[in-house]
Amino acid sequence: MEDPGGSCEVTSGSRDESSSPRVTPPLAIKMIKSRGKILGVLALFLVMVWYSISREDSFYFPLQENKTTCPVGEVEKKAAQLIANYTRDRPLFLQLKDYFWVRTPSLYELPYGTKGSEDILLRLLSVTSYAMPESIQSLKCRRCAVVGNGHRLRNSSMGETINTYDVVIRLNNAPVHGYEQDVGSKTTMRLFYPESAHFNPRRENDPDTLLVLVPFKPMDFQWLEAILNDKKRVRKGFWKQPPLIWDANPEQVRILNPYYMEVTAAKLLNLPMKQPRKVKQKPTTGLLAITLALHFCDLVHIAGFGYPDSADKKQTIHYYEQITLKSMATSEHNVSHEALAIKRMLELGLVRNLTYF
Ligand SMILES: *[C@@H]1O[C@H](CO)[C@@H](O)[C@H](O)[C@H]1NC(C)=O
Ligand SMILES: *[C@@H]1O[C@H](CO)[C@@H](O)[C@H](O)[C@H]1NC(C)=O
Ligand SMILES: *[C@@H]1O[C@H](CO)[C@@H](O)[C@H](O)[C@H]1NC(C)=O
Ligand SMILES: *[C@@H]1O[C@H](CO)[C@@H](O)[C@H](O)[C@H]1NC(C)=O
Ligand SMILES: *[C@@H]1O[C@H](CO)[C@@H](O)[C@H](O)[C@H]1NC(C)=O
Repeated sequence: MEDPGGSCEVTSGSRDESSSPRVTPPLAIKMIKSRGKILGVLALFLVMVWYSISREDSFYFPLQENKTTCPVGEVEKKAAQLIANYTRDRPLFLQLKDYFWVRTPSLYELPYGTKGSEDILLRLLSVTSYAMPESIQSLKCRRCAVVGNGHRLRNSSMGETINTYDVVIRLNNAPVHGYEQDVGSKTTMRLFYPESAHFNPRRENDPDTLLVLVPFKPMDFQWLEAILNDKKRVRKGFWKQPPLIWDANPEQVRILNPYYMEVTAAKLLNLPMKQPRKVKQKPTTGLLAITLALHFCDLVHIAGFGYPDSADKKQTIHYYEQITLKSMATSEHNVSHEALAIKRMLELGLVRNLTYF
């Protein structure tokens, strides 16, 4: 991976060790007095030379330390002001162990919990993966860019900047090909649901992009299971036909922990959790992605968020397709309500906007 030209502070921890062992002068003089021991001094000298050469890289380390300092703990501190009972203890992705030996009980059904979906999850999690890859887990600093699909990205020339982040989160079927200059090309994670899945998951992603399913309804698990196990496809129950063939490597597929949907709805949007049968309002994948970043990253910058003014009937809403706010009318999202939540985060300095919000 390229150095993002602003990688985070690397605390080498080796500075204390750099005062290497030294021979005290009296001892050295005594040794020289004895001719037979001259060789010993020479050997000691050579060992010392070798020692300092071998430590060469750790001498260079502190010089890079200052590039960009990592604001460790800042996101946690500010997020806790906004999100009651904020914790980073919950896994980002659903894990097999929670459905295998112990059936971790969930208070809610989808999209806020896994109640009632335990059996299918057991089958799904045994063919997908659930660990965070070491390359991401071991980052010294998790500088994250959450890239929304908004029209503000058009002609933004933000591509190069976006590519410098350690973790780039993208949404749904948003393309990168042909838009690199404005949106960048790096994709660490892509959040999607069946209806928003790109028919060719390899096309707009990197070879190692994590494909993170956001489950809104039990059918979403059935879609993924049918695809991965090549079972008979289910066509009913979706509001738009999802791909029937979806050629993804199961190793790269993850299932988002619905806990983050619950936090987004309950804590950021103050929506009631117990809505009768049909959930009338739910968060967008975009706001969900920001919530996720707030629980995982050391720094959260957003680009391509925000919708046109509701009076602006002609302005397209996405950077890549010609649809307007009208197409959102029947969705179960309240984008002005979400905008207020994002404004609060900006005011708190919890997130920063790379494009106008
Ligand atoms: C190095 O970091 C310190 C503390 O964060 C800062 O005050 C200083 O300006 C930085 N120097 C450079 C050259 O970036
Ligand atoms: C926070 O956690 C406590 C203890 O589990 C619980 O009683 C309380 O209702 C929670 N508050 C919110 C806003 O979730
Ligand atoms: C983007 O830039 C091109 C070329 O400069 C211009 O023709 C186009 O109108 C711009 N689009 C927007 C949405 O600003
Ligand atoms: C959407 O959110 C706005 C701002 O919070 C609120 O005034 C409005 O009533 C909401 N609309 C619906 C349909 O709930
Ligand atoms: C962020 O949004 C504000 C408006 O809310 C705007 O004034 C500012 O220029 C934006 N920042 C960037 C870098 O575009």
